Amino acid sequence: MSKPVAFVTGAGGEMGHLLLPALKSRGYDVVALDLVPLPPEIGSSCKAAIEASILDAPALEEVFRRHHPQILLHLAAVLSTKAEKDPDLAHDVNTNGTVALFRLAREEALAAGRNVVVMFPSSIAVYGLPDARAKEAAGAVREEDWVRPAGMYGINKVYGEMLGSYLTARARKAGEPGLDFRAIRFPGLVSAETLPSGGTSDYAPEMIHAAAQGRPYSCFVRPDTRLPFMTMPDAVESFLSLASAPAESLTRRVYNIGAFSPSAAEIREAALEHFPGAEIGFDPVPARQAIVDSWPADVDDRSARADWGHAPRHGLREAVRDYLVPALRRRYAAGAAPAR
Ligand SMILES: NC(=O)c1ccc[n+]([C@@H]2O[C@H](COP(=O)([O-])OP(=O)(O)OC[C@H]3O[C@@H](n4cnc5c(N)ncnc54)[C@H](O)[C@@H]3O)[C@@H](O)[C@H]2O)c1
Repeated sequence: MSKPVAFVTGAGGEMGHLLLPALKSRGYDVVALDLVPLPPEIGSSCKAAIEASILDAPALEEVFRRHHPQILLHLAAVLSTKAEKDPDLAHDVNTNGTVALFRLAREEALAAGRNVVVMFPSSIAVYGLPDARAKEAAGAVREEDWVRPAGMYGINKVYGEMLGSYLTARARKAGEPGLDFRAIRFPGLVSAETLPSGGTSDYAPEMIHAAAQGRPYSCFVRPDTRLPFMTMPDAVESFLSLASAPAESLTRRVYNIGAFSPSAAEIREAALEHFPGAEIGFDPVPARQAIVDSWPADVDDRSARADWGHAPRHGLREAVRDYLVPALRRRYAAGAAPAR
């Protein structure tokens, strides 16, 4: 019997590094697409790897015509810091690219007579708290609250969430195959395999990678800045748990998930516990601080825990001690540069 095909856009990024091998080990044939060539260590997990933009309509059509994916995992995006610098590019990639992909997924579902599961990594950037006092008062925000993003990236993600949810409801109402859309609003993600670029929660991974390399680090937000974070292995596990959850157990299309919510000072302390000589200072950059100040300090993820068993393995202590430190010691002792 042929294997189900998973189509992953933005497959060469941080999340793709762990997601591609995880999909392969769960029995999928992986078709990957990215602007950049896939590094060999993840390219080997793929049945096909395509170097193209999601704005390249013929390239996308060719993927659907040739491979008929049962599941689309749409990772390609311009992330928050870059989106603020170039909102037109962000709109093109994050919105127009998403519209084109969802249209092809819908056509595939209709032609094949079965739903196409569409997995969408949204973000806590969809939230927009007006100021630090509101952020503190809000505590762990629910999915329904404070969805009024202050930045382009958050605006793009809200549109993707709403379009996917709408198309799913529309197909159901019409009684025809269509999108089975499922989204997670990820917190900041911390990976030992890669260094991030272009996100505004990057200070946490950057701080720990720098400490492991013995390089000084200047953090671009204030020490008291608090955001939810999660390790990349927990994020990938949750994404795949939601993808395989029975449709009848889902009470919503878009889920918050959390794991730990440290202040920047607490992340520094955790790094110093393992790398006591690390030089970590703070030099807030107002534009990036303003973005982070509009994001919640924590998220209410009760629906994800109840509906499909979201249960992250790593709190801050475990993330640093059991995941990051051993992997980073190995990586940098071997003289490796960060992967990206
Ligand atoms: N990393 C995080 O902290 C975080 C948090 C919340 C949500 N997310 C979301 O998760 C997804 C994956 O994030 P990531 O950390 O792997 O990001 P990343 O920046 O490492 O990877 C994104 C990938 O998309 C590719 N890409 C960009 N424009 C493209 C285009 N036009 N066509 C094809 N590919 C294109 C890039 O080359 C890159 O490899 C993104 O949608 C992101 O918004 C990430």
